[in-house]
Amino acid sequence: MPRPVLLVIIPLAPELLQPLESACEIVRWSALPAPSDFLRERGAEVRAVITNGLIGLPAGSAEHLTTLELIACNGVGYDAIDVEGARQRGIAVTHTPGVLSADVADLALALLLAVFRQVPAADRHVRDGAWARGPLPLGRRLAGSRIGIVGLGNIGRLIARRCVAFDTTVGYAGRRQQADVPYAYFDSPRALAAWSDVLIAATPGGAATRHLVSAEVLDALGPQGVFINIARGSVVDQDALVERLTSGGIAAAGLDVFADEPNVPAPLLAMSQVVLTPHIASATHETRRAMGELVVANVAAWAEGRPLPTPVP
Ligand code: 8YV
Repeated sequence: MPRPVLLVIIPLAPELLQPLESACEIVRWSALPAPSDFLRERGAEVRAVITNGLIGLPAGSAEHLTTLELIACNGVGYDAIDVEGARQRGIAVTHTPGVLSADVADLALALLLAVFRQVPAADRHVRDGAWARGPLPLGRRLAGSRIGIVGLGNIGRLIARRCVAFDTTVGYAGRRQQADVPYAYFDSPRALAAWSDVLIAATPGGAATRHLVSAEVLDALGPQGVFINIARGSVVDQDALVERLTSGGIAAAGLDVFADEPNVPAPLLAMSQVVLTPHIASATHETRRAMGELVVANVAAWAEGRPLPTPVP
């Protein structure tokens, strides 16, 4: 029996994939001289795909992947994968929840502190030799702030815990009130924003949360408000965000995700009150390894006919 073909769309360390070599013929998308020829000629042999939630399946590939059984997503978010369509075709979808939550929460706090205490500007102030000419303008105290978290899932809860440790008060908005947390619940992002000094987006991406942080929500956050996004660029109306940051409608932002990565709107690049990172919330050696191992565990379980460890719910 030929081994089923596993198509690996994203870069993954060879040692992570090694445990799958006996069960699957591993084909790396990046090593294909002509990916469209491969899809046409061998697409029907591909039984499993490893991808991530931003790329999903390559455009136009679905029609060739006629015997696909598994899409294993290297990430907790799976917004680029048509999960419902996959379900209808009997294709299982897995993701990597849990293993990256602490790192993502850490980056939310890193952005928050970087914005309040102007860490990037302070670093530049020292390096540019400006210190000798005078002090950096004063920053802002984080302790005592009200932090509103949009989406109190796994990651949102870890952000909340960290925020409490920094002596802030936490509120949240989400689909429903959660009985086991002490934080104030608001029944809409707008009501939460009106209460908050800082609004942190921590929801999944996708159609259901598109522009959840709308122009109205940003207006409710107000001229002193700070917006932090470690979720997905699609969760905020990015044009409205840029406009409010330009006009002083909100004070500042810390952004790890954008509407059209890796493109970042030019006005943001010029704003000193905005801290920008290139979608790195899960990008530590430890977490990327744990994510890769979980992806591989899902593929191994599929190959051996065992229950999948972390299917998309
Ligand atoms: C990854 C992510 O950067 O888990 C997610 O949803 O956005 C990140 O962990 C992304 O999946 C790319 O691998």
